[in-house]
Amino acid sequence: MPLTLAHISDLHIGQDYQGDGGARALRRAQQVIDYVNALPGDVDGVLATGDLADHGAPEEYRVVRELLGSLRFPVLPCPGNHDVREAYRATLLGEDSSGEPVNQVHHLAGFTIAMCDSSIPGRADGLLDDTTLTWLDKVLSDTEDPALVCFHHPPVALHVPYVDDIRLGNDVQLAEVLNDKVLAVLCGHAHTAATTTFAGRPLVVAPGVVSTLVLPAEGDHIVDFGLPPAIAFHVVDDRGLVTHFRSL
Ligand SMILES: [Fe+2]
Ligand SMILES: [Fe+2]
Repeated sequence: MPLTLAHISDLHIGQDYQGDGGARALRRAQQVIDYVNALPGDVDGVLATGDLADHGAPEEYRVVRELLGSLRFPVLPCPGNHDVREAYRATLLGEDSSGEPVNQVHHLAGFTIAMCDSSIPGRADGLLDDTTLTWLDKVLSDTEDPALVCFHHPPVALHVPYVDDIRLGNDVQLAEVLNDKVLAVLCGHAHTAATTTFAGRPLVVAPGVVSTLVLPAEGDHIVDFGLPPAIAFHVVDDRGLVTHFRSL
């Protein structure tokens, strides 16, 4: 049986849009949650690749916890640059409020899914620090299963200048850790559905729930707030990954 995952990213709960106090971000997040919950069939899990809160405030994570907790499928989250590790851990995960990277491994339907923390506290760009790379190396060495590696910041340029400047900084070190069990790398952060390759594997970037970043050819503005929220579905078997995108 293939593994089927829904992939939501960049909810930015708490993002103020024209003085709405976060109402727009909440409405769009609720829209994608409702869509996934209303599926007539099942997915094996829901990836949530960071920027779950906009300011990393505890009250934002209370909303995120309620939203993600209402999903009828297992949720596999990781933080992004807008998240704050201490509040993310304490309020979303119910753990102690350590500032260490939030790395979690999940074993679902015969697949290993590594959710890595690529955030750098206080900065917009990303890095998989030594702790995280050591952890990921062990996860990928220990498993016998095919694996997916997920984190927030894409490790390659996507030709979206705003986000290319704040992408993952240590792609070379990451590539050295990926072994032959890794079928694909899945990211968020760019607020645009994008596919390319990284280290010889598919790299898929989920669309942003809260907004869409545009290409230079689409205009001088950086963010399009008019395009609808969107999500990805990944279907994975031992042959590899197929991704479908849905605009809601
Ligand atoms: Fe984001
Ligand atoms: Fe981000």
